[in-house]
Amino acid sequence: MDISAELESAINQQIGIEFSASHAYLSKAAYFERNAFDGFAEWMHQQSVEETAHAMKFYQYLNDRDGVVRIPAIEAPEWDYGSVLSVFESSLVQEREVTKSIYNLYKIATDEGDYATVSFLKWFVDEQVEEEKTVSDMIDKLKMADGNADSLLLLDRYALEQRSSEADA
Ligand code: FEO
Repeated sequence: MDISAELESAINQQIGIEFSASHAYLSKAAYFERNAFDGFAEWMHQQSVEETAHAMKFYQYLNDRDGVVRIPAIEAPEWDYGSVLSVFESSLVQEREVTKSIYNLYKIATDEGDYATVSFLKWFVDEQVEEEKTVSDMIDKLKMADGNADSLLLLDRYALEQRSSEADA
């Protein structure tokens, strides 16, 4: 079964959304590096790499289904932020947008009876639950820290340890 023109177009858009998320995380990593938050920088850097991998999963899938990959233009991300908390809050907004977009893809695929695409998208549905939870948990911790420098440095260390243990897993 050929992939429909509508799904092909929506998947191309999704490739752009994932690359855009990757750029945004990279920009956040740079912000944290400038401000000597090594743990948060590593966290954002790894997220950026993961988002590129997501984009490439869609790219590969579209190629595998004989669709035409057309990488969309990507807007420049923000590069300055008011606080550590605002960086993570903006990440949560971004992740929720990605989730919405994945759900939209899922709906199109379901309505069309394209079960190969439905099956392919299931991984992303689960991944979004995990990604929203991780960012949301960090926001809760940052709110408890309430801008206190000692607490922020502890959380920065915590972010580094978390990401290092994931990388070793
Ligand atoms: Fe690829 Fe964080 O969504």
